[in-house]
Amino acid sequence: MRIDKYLANMNVGSRKEVHQLIKKGIVSVNGQTVKTPKEKVAETDEVTVNGEKIVYQKYHYFLMNKPKGVLSATEDRSQRTVISLLDLKDQYQGIVPVGRLDKDTTGLLLLTNDGQLNHELLAPNKHVAKVYRAKIAGVADENTVKTFASGMTLGDETKLKPAKLTVLKQDLEHDSSEIEIEISEGKYHQIKRMFGAVGMKVVELERISMGKLKLPNNLKRGQYIEIDVDEIK
Ligand code: URA
Repeated sequence: MRIDKYLANMNVGSRKEVHQLIKKGIVSVNGQTVKTPKEKVAETDEVTVNGEKIVYQKYHYFLMNKPKGVLSATEDRSQRTVISLLDLKDQYQGIVPVGRLDKDTTGLLLLTNDGQLNHELLAPNKHVAKVYRAKIAGVADENTVKTFASGMTLGDETKLKPAKLTVLKQDLEHDSSEIEIEISEGKYHQIKRMFGAVGMKVVELERISMGKLKLPNNLKRGQYIEIDVDEIK
């Protein structure tokens, strides 16, 4: 790989900024000052900028607690996206959210530039389990549990796989409930549409796990941590 691409990929700067660093003579590979941005470098070479080691890491995995009001997208003309919540130094090329949470949904969102892993986590045949907590307008009960467990069909004929609903709290006086639900697919507005189909409304929705990944208790809304790929697999 060219040294300018290597450094740009590691977010040392834009290609243009990296060219300036090379011109200044402060970039070296295995102790030799780099003369041209075209110089080739391997991932195993020791690269330094101003004496500081730049270790090559191809893929990054960020686990975010998504807040309300931001889009699960990479860019948007007028609205904030989850990418904009990453520090500039973490906005690596190709980082995208793995799947989507609605703008008003909070909780666990993985962001990565590992396209293969992204694909595997979203592939319908992999059935990666996603667990959500929700506040519902309406009283979910045993009937709702059974309906969801049977694999329901939505109004537009979308046939869903069985979902596991656990009723955590029922409030008959206020006609509301708190639930936990596990689904293994990710259809558009799935949970909101499921409750809509039984005459209820999702008021608050938070994703608390996806596969083996759990939302850490101490991760505040809008915060994120970098994790290791082994934690996902
Ligand atoms: N289901 C929804 O309705 N919304 C989400 O954001 C995620 C699952």
